[in-house]
Amino acid sequence: MPLSHESRVARAASRLNVPEVIILRALIENEGGYVSGSKLAKTLGMSRVAIWQHMEKLRSQGFEFQAVRARGYRLTGRPSVINPWLIDAHLAVRQLAFSLECFDLIDSTNDEAMRQLSEGHPTPLVVLAKRQTRGRGRFGRVWQSVADSNLYVSFAFQPQLEPERMQTFTLWMGVNVCELVANFTRSSPGVKWPNDILFEGRKAGGMLTEARMDADQIRDLVYGLGLNINNAPDETPDAPGRRPTSLSEQVKSPVDINKFTAALIGRVLDAYGQFVSGEYLKSFADRWNACDLLRDKPVSLIHGAQTIKGVAAGVDDEGSLIVRTDRGRTERFRAGEVTLEKK
Ligand code: BTN
Repeated sequence: MPLSHESRVARAASRLNVPEVIILRALIENEGGYVSGSKLAKTLGMSRVAIWQHMEKLRSQGFEFQAVRARGYRLTGRPSVINPWLIDAHLAVRQLAFSLECFDLIDSTNDEAMRQLSEGHPTPLVVLAKRQTRGRGRFGRVWQSVADSNLYVSFAFQPQLEPERMQTFTLWMGVNVCELVANFTRSSPGVKWPNDILFEGRKAGGMLTEARMDADQIRDLVYGLGLNINNAPDETPDAPGRRPTSLSEQVKSPVDINKFTAALIGRVLDAYGQFVSGEYLKSFADRWNACDLLRDKPVSLIHGAQTIKGVAAGVDDEGSLIVRTDRGRTERFRAGEVTLEKK
């Protein structure tokens, strides 16, 4: 589907080590302190007037600086919305080879990632949006994508893997996202098979992995993640069941969306490498068990026209959910919608 003019507005390519990123990096590393204009000019090989022009460009994007004669610049304010320069400046591993596309508005980051792959865009590719008009979840459900406060991101890869591995891929990514959120916010999320990130039964995020096949191999793989970061609890329309939550609601303070996104990109790319090489197998089972919100809990699973009740007993090598059913059988499910039952 061709993109409307509107959705192409303010599209920004990053990963170019542009002067703005180098300036931000220097200021972030000196958090609270001043960086002299002449030092920046020397690092970038440009005049102090040119540095000032780049600072103005940063100001127009919501950055604030204090400029003091004979001391230099100090970062005093940063945008609270997704900013690709700031994400780049925060990346711990700077030479990561990937490209980043950031949109003010897009239909769906998953759809855009697929379109880019069709156009031959090299991978890995990360597509971010401040807002989505047609954010999608599993079973074609709408993923509410309010502007600015939350994360809508898709990662595009071309792995040449067997299709059977896709389910475990999502679970492995879920483990990594869950661990990252826990470390970054010092909170306790979990993963609900197969694609939800939850805090005490309330959904904070969802994953949607989609693929295109080439004969019997996955050619294009898009991993999409929607994560509620800073939306106020009442901004998200109520979903059926329990109200959704956000990271900021859980930790009771705003979460730095750009710093988090930089950490997420590093983590997902790393996790992808481990998945493709098979190295993930060394730790997957233990780490899944540590995040698994269903394990040993009574569940009901809607599978086609059937509803199965039983106790969840982890996942198998293919990422299928194992359920010890109330009828005394052990069954495996590749797909389905699970609900935690009250004891
Ligand atoms: C679900 O809970 O069913 C999965 C939700 C996945 C939402 C994300 S937001 C970024 C990416 N783009 C989409 O259209 N969907 C995913």
